[in-house]
Amino acid sequence: MDRNSPIGVFDSGIGGLTVAREIIRQLPDEPLVYFGDTARLPYGSKSKETIIRYAKQVIHFLRTQDVKAIVIACNTASAYALEEIEKETDIPVIGVVRAGAHMAAEMSRSGKIGVIGTAGTIKSGIYGDTIRKYRPDAQVFGKACPLFVPLVEEGLWHDSVTEEIASRYVSELKGKFIDTLVMGCTHYPLIRSTLRKIMGDGVTLVNPAYETAVELKGMLMEQGLTCTRIPEEKYQFFVSDQAEEFTNFAVSILPEQVRETKKIDIEEF
Ligand code: DGL
Repeated sequence: MDRNSPIGVFDSGIGGLTVAREIIRQLPDEPLVYFGDTARLPYGSKSKETIIRYAKQVIHFLRTQDVKAIVIACNTASAYALEEIEKETDIPVIGVVRAGAHMAAEMSRSGKIGVIGTAGTIKSGIYGDTIRKYRPDAQVFGKACPLFVPLVEEGLWHDSVTEEIASRYVSELKGKFIDTLVMGCTHYPLIRSTLRKIMGDGVTLVNPAYETAVELKGMLMEQGLTCTRIPEEKYQFFVSDQAEEFTNFAVSILPEQVRETKKIDIEEF
């Protein structure tokens, strides 16, 4: 495997750019190929079988880009498809759940941990299962927040509507006296300040994107896969639909890195 090959990052759409952003911050010398499945999002409301089928196609596409490792940036795809993908892939594959769950287990003092995510991620119970592997006594409370994704995509990151909806979603978790909250969806770090305001300073917010980049860095170093020669085209972006809209949104998250987005037909893979 060539250590100078790019890292493949995959998400259902734009949300995974929050993960790409953390990877770029922590590993500025690593080339990336990002794929957003914009023709088929949202993943959060789809079945496990469908997500596995989609994820396999995306992995096939990323392999054509000669990637050295893959980060499944989407929480829903990590929840439903990581195990299947790992079985049939001979390069390292990292999801976002394990790193986030591990950090939550470490950060929580009381062991009462809240998790917010898409309907699929919460239904899978994966965060609870993974957190309890690190901390068997943890009490994990999940809450699906399906309106957050469209609110973020509408650009309402600091808006009273988002604040009102967030208050309703998390009131149940506040009632459980959690001291740690996992932002278990790619989009949620973009409304971190709203969540911080509602939850108060006593609750630690865990961003799995950040922790995943830490895990990725460790893995690349351990396996001798860190890049030593940066290619001319360091960052490449692909989507399955609406390339221009993707670029327009992406520059608000990665202003320096996204210049062009290419559209591919993911059903071919
Ligand atoms: N990327 C998804 C996740 O993190 C959120 C958007 C979607 O539902 O596709 O679960």
